[in-house]
Amino acid sequence: MKKTILITGGAGFIGSHVVRKFVQDYPEYTIVNLDLLTYAGNLENLQDIENKPNYIFECADIADAETVDALFKKYAFDGVIHLAAESHVDRSITDPASFVRTNVQGTMVLLHAAKNLWKGNFENKRFYHISTDEVYGSLGAEGLFTETTPYDPKSPYSASKASSDHFVRAYANTYNLPIVISNCSNNYGPNQFPEKLIPLCINNITNKKSLPIYGKGENIRDWLYVIDHAAAIDLIYHKGQHGETYNIGGNNEWTNIALVRTLCKIMDNRLGREEGESEQLITYVTDRAGHDLRYAIDSSKLMNELGWKPSVTFEEGVELTVDWYLDNNDWLQNIVSGDYASYYDSMYKNK
Ligand code: NAD
Ligand code: TYD
Repeated sequence: MKKTILITGGAGFIGSHVVRKFVQDYPEYTIVNLDLLTYAGNLENLQDIENKPNYIFECADIADAETVDALFKKYAFDGVIHLAAESHVDRSITDPASFVRTNVQGTMVLLHAAKNLWKGNFENKRFYHISTDEVYGSLGAEGLFTETTPYDPKSPYSASKASSDHFVRAYANTYNLPIVISNCSNNYGPNQFPEKLIPLCINNITNKKSLPIYGKGENIRDWLYVIDHAAAIDLIYHKGQHGETYNIGGNNEWTNIALVRTLCKIMDNRLGREEGESEQLITYVTDRAGHDLRYAIDSSKLMNELGWKPSVTFEEGVELTVDWYLDNNDWLQNIVSGDYASYYDSMYKNK
């Protein structure tokens, strides 16, 4: 069936994998990627599909209601997959206001534009909000987050995402907007901005720079390969029940220090260094303020009801990831040097 789908944040890490999947797998859909190209947005991520006939890029701010309304009128979207966000916890600690503006206000602007466009006629319409497991707060040594775990966000980032989730459910309850939400654990893989732990360490190991471990490195995250998150998003967009929430996770818990040691080992092997050489770069630094101890997801609802399961083990995924960054060192260095911003100018200025 022909559809026009808005994907927000499609120039970012996860969004670019979702855009690619939808553009390639659904030639009958028109995919409109709306992204403000903040520091985290990078059109180089989509170079391979940017000339496809069913792909359109719009540079815009989701918190700018006038522009968003105009785009909803122009394209008459059938569906929205909303990923645009400020996404880095450390930045939320230094600048919480930008997280409220983009994550809360921006989500509300999109919800309202969808409500105004669809005007109560919701047949074949869907607003899919991509969220995080961090809304559930922090676990102790035991237990998993389920879809019914009470919200208990602890960082400005997770508080802004929790607030956006509440707005999405409020629009379903108040205006019957056909929504679905998923809350995913930590993603890793190609195209992740190198402020996040895994690409930061890969870059620093390559350049023999120190590997900053917050606190004692004992915090635990549940890591999922980004391609498997994109597959879950595809499944939930098409098969998820209206009004439902689905947790997505890798069933793959690692302490930060064990994860970084694993990366060091793989990198030593790939770079022809002596085993143990890169581990010497590990440096314990001051802990993150309010650092959540442990995240771990129970994704049995998604697995049992929609038949999703991860396609790669962590061992496979992390090797694919290291190899991707080593093979795409130009991508990484463009970001590190700031050159990637000029890509947009050269590609889109005169179009
Ligand atoms: P990212 O920071 O890599 O990308 C965010 C994208 O949003 C960028 O392209 C940026 O330019 C765009 N953007 C930011 N502000 C905007 C605005 N005001 N208007 C339009 N576009 C704007 O983030 P990511 O890691 O790809 O995360 C994508 C989504 O998935 C986020 O909603 C995040 O909360 C969620 N999520 C991420 C993870 C993870 O591990 N990265 C895990 C679970 C959920
Ligand atoms: P991050 O990739 O920022 O994701 P999140 O905070 O959303 O989980 O961090 C993952 C874990 O790694 C988290 O416990 C913080 C820790 N961390 C470090 O120890 N050092 C670093 O330089 C970074 C960026 C993160």
